[in-house]
Amino acid sequence: MTQSLIFALARGRLLDETSSLLTELGIEPIESLTGSRRLMFDTRHPGVKLLVLRATDVPPYVERGGAHLGIAGKDVLLEYGSDMLCEPVDLQLSRCRLMTAMKKGIELPAKGRIRVATKYVNIARRHFASQGRQIDPIKLYGAMELAPLVGLADVIVDVVDTGNTLEANGLEPRDLIIHSSARLIVSRVAMKTRHQHIFPMIEKLNKWTKSQHAS
Ligand code: PRP
Repeated sequence: MTQSLIFALARGRLLDETSSLLTELGIEPIESLTGSRRLMFDTRHPGVKLLVLRATDVPPYVERGGAHLGIAGKDVLLEYGSDMLCEPVDLQLSRCRLMTAMKKGIELPAKGRIRVATKYVNIARRHFASQGRQIDPIKLYGAMELAPLVGLADVIVDVVDTGNTLEANGLEPRDLIIHSSARLIVSRVAMKTRHQHIFPMIEKLNKWTKSQHAS
């Protein structure tokens, strides 16, 4: 018997937006994906199992064969930086901007290393290098907005959606680094070995994405 097709999902905001996509694929989890301590879920689709992971863990699971495919934000994918992952569909979910932000009215130090608080250390390093600046990264896992307020960092690199979190903390957006959205990701290996299952999914999701954004 063929091993189940394993589909890795990111928990949090993106998981809520993923349910209609799963319905489109005929993949209905047997129990609710939220409010359970379970990490692997059976579905009503024979031969498909779901994993619910931290967003940053989806790329390594798919790259290393722990899952055949998954859903991950472009921000997370750029930070992870793998050439073993295909991104066949831009699902256009969880759209946001990755930006630098600083305290209102404050400028970057004229010289020396810039202290950057972020969970996107690689992206931040590349962004500031493109401006000829080196950074002293401070890797944080949340509440980045606090770092400039208490003098821990000069600048943050973080996701901005409505801009409300920056505004509520006296920060303002500065450089736009990328526009991000969720992507279907497939490992190069699974693209070959499981193509008879994965290609129809890609086709369905391409059509679904177009129909969602047609109007
Ligand atoms: C993200 C991000 C900001 C906020 C931006 O955090 O880190 O704090 O959303 O959204 P806004 O521009 O609409 O205010 P999230 O709530 O996803 O939690 P996280 O810190 O765990 O990533």
